[in-house]
Amino acid sequence: MMMSDTISSHRQDFPPAILIVDDAIENYETIEALLDEFQYQLHYAPDGQTALDALELFDPDVILLDVMMPEMDGIEVCRQIRSRPAWKAVPIAMVTALDSKVDLARCLEAGANDFISKPIDKLELCARIRSLLRIKQQYDEVRDLMREREAIVRTIVHDLRNPLTNILLCVQTLQDPRLPAKEWPEMLALIEQAGHFLQVAIDDMLATTLLESGQMRFKPEPTDLCTPIADSIAGLAKLAAQKRQRLVGHFPLCPTTSFEVDTMAIRRSIDNLIANAIKFAPYDSEIHVQLDIVDDDTALIRVCDDGPGVPDDLREKIFEPYEIGSLKSGVAQIGIGLTFCKLAIEAHGGSIRVRPNQPEGSIFELMLPRRMT
Ligand SMILES: Nc1ncnc2c1ncn2[C@@H]1O[C@H](COP(=O)(O)OP(=O)(O)OP(=O)(O)O)[C@@H](O)[C@H]1O
Ligand SMILES: [Mg+2]
Repeated sequence: MMMSDTISSHRQDFPPAILIVDDAIENYETIEALLDEFQYQLHYAPDGQTALDALELFDPDVILLDVMMPEMDGIEVCRQIRSRPAWKAVPIAMVTALDSKVDLARCLEAGANDFISKPIDKLELCARIRSLLRIKQQYDEVRDLMREREAIVRTIVHDLRNPLTNILLCVQTLQDPRLPAKEWPEMLALIEQAGHFLQVAIDDMLATTLLESGQMRFKPEPTDLCTPIADSIAGLAKLAAQKRQRLVGHFPLCPTTSFEVDTMAIRRSIDNLIANAIKFAPYDSEIHVQLDIVDDDTALIRVCDDGPGVPDDLREKIFEPYEIGSLKSGVAQIGIGLTFCKLAIEAHGGSIRVRPNQPEGSIFELMLPRRMT
């Protein structure tokens, strides 16, 4: 039998687990009978110490705690559960015949979330369990999100540390009076490259946060689109040259009539696509950047490389925040560049997608309407 609503336990494939702590087994049996039609996993502990010892084993989503128990009463059990960091948030309902305000206040102070009054009424029991499971589910979702964010932060810190370490190493080398002057330009170029990487990564992260929260304001201005694309190619030619790659621009023969876009955002999006092509395509390859006006009102910008390409099942995923698709060795992958592109292009009423290049590689296609819609 399934539960009547959609609440599920954090152990996705298992029904929610409920731990019932009561010195009288008849009380457990009553609850078991009342919950018979629901698919819960019920666990029983006859006293507080057994419950505390078996918490990890039972891994409950909700705990029902009898208040009056010999040796350790329910309030003390509740306090001890709350003192364990891993169990600070598990919902606890005190099952009690007590109705004095002082006793109820003691339960709340010990960390209880709710009460179920004795004798137990089926309607009340079911409603309270559902409400506590909702709390548990919300807690689990927030906890999972926090864990995901922590993993992302760890990756970002790792990827940002490498260029920073390179900068510091180069500066130390430059400070060495024995370093021949002819080596300086190479050191300075390495510092510039690492600094540029840091700047782009940090700017993309900030811009994406602003875009996601709707706080980024675009300033559309007239452009022929050739200019930001040509600027982007010129700006990244040096980086491409380090891998002996050539950036080749293809522009319409007739001068394009004016588009109204945020030039900086479009330039940054194209920068990101070209930088990806440089990063992932092999040495000695060509990267083609092409602008076409497909109908009177749409520009199609394509960045084509002959790198490893993007597998079918990752073609949409790589546009999500901090999604790096397949792991590639020897390059930093933060996974924010394409998210910025997608958010910025969609904010213009356009779209972005990736498809395979022939015989190998990828083509990133960006459709842009004449005016922001
Ligand atoms: N031209 C490409 N060829 C092959 N894979 C690509 C290409 N462009 C992007 N990808 C894949 O998509 C992933 C996400 O790209 P995205 O630009 O968002 O992040 P990134 O390049 O890893 O890091 P950054 O945030 O510094 O740009 C990349 O890690 C890579 O796996
Ligand atoms: Mg990138």
